[in-house]
Amino acid sequence: MAKWIPVLAIALAGLAPNRALAWGKEGHEVVGIIAEKHLNQPARDAVGELLKDHQFKSLADTKLVNWADAIRGSAVYKEKYPKAPQWHYVDIDVASDVTKIDVAKSFVDTDCVYAALLKFRVIVTDPKKPLQDRREALFFIAHFVGDFHQPLHCAERNKDKGGNLVKVFVKAGDKEAPNLHKVWDSVVVARAMGALSSEDYAARLIGRLDGAKTEAHQKGTLEEWIVESHKLAREKVYQDKGEALKAEGHTLSEDYLKVGAEVAELQLTRGGLRLAKFLNDAFADDK
Ligand code: ADE
Ligand code: ZN
Ligand code: ZN
Repeated sequence: MAKWIPVLAIALAGLAPNRALAWGKEGHEVVGIIAEKHLNQPARDAVGELLKDHQFKSLADTKLVNWADAIRGSAVYKEKYPKAPQWHYVDIDVASDVTKIDVAKSFVDTDCVYAALLKFRVIVTDPKKPLQDRREALFFIAHFVGDFHQPLHCAERNKDKGGNLVKVFVKAGDKEAPNLHKVWDSVVVARAMGALSSEDYAARLIGRLDGAKTEAHQKGTLEEWIVESHKLAREKVYQDKGEALKAEGHTLSEDYLKVGAEVAELQLTRGGLRLAKFLNDAFADDK
């Protein structure tokens, strides 16, 4: 869910484009707010220690969860992390019925979101690493766990770069055709959130949880979560009305966007709960 750019900004009545620009950040904000509320005490203490005297105050801070996008233009960070642009996603062909074992074997040594999360999990918990590196590891983790829950960050079709190369019309009569990736980064999220702020929307998602649901969402491994997101790409993203979504100039159905908003909601909920779980586990191993 990299940029969450407001492709529908102009089309949505009453919203100034600059207001809409913030959407990109809102998906990650929702993930961060949900995660912050689900950290256990050891992880909360560890995160608090890393953020002591830092301008980012918690996982619920928009600057923290969006830092990995904010540094994209920085010369300093391009030098420090030259491969970072590739760490936001993992390109798994949508035609492949990938398993968790395939994910572990095929991607562990590549520059992708999976390997990046494994790497930064080690750094964030290593007390011998410089504080700044550990902080940056935390910022990357907080962002990348959100990212891989966007199904197109775990899939590609015909080398379309997770839908970035596929132009689609959001509704009949539209002049502009955004790419499919942006539809999933932003349009379906905006639709799910309606007029709510990130805080209010996250509160609504948290309000729908109970102990059993929370536990069910937090079950599994990183590899399984990536497979699950990839499957959503196959079943919901590259399919419209039960047929393969055409590569070019397709107009999305109303049904498609409705399902898209539901998928976005589910994945944002999972993203938040699993970011907490990822950090709870990481800092528990540390003990
Ligand atoms: N660039 C190439 N593949 C991508 C993907 N799956 N998601 C986002 N950006 C990409
Ligand atoms: Zn990203
Ligand atoms: Zn994206």
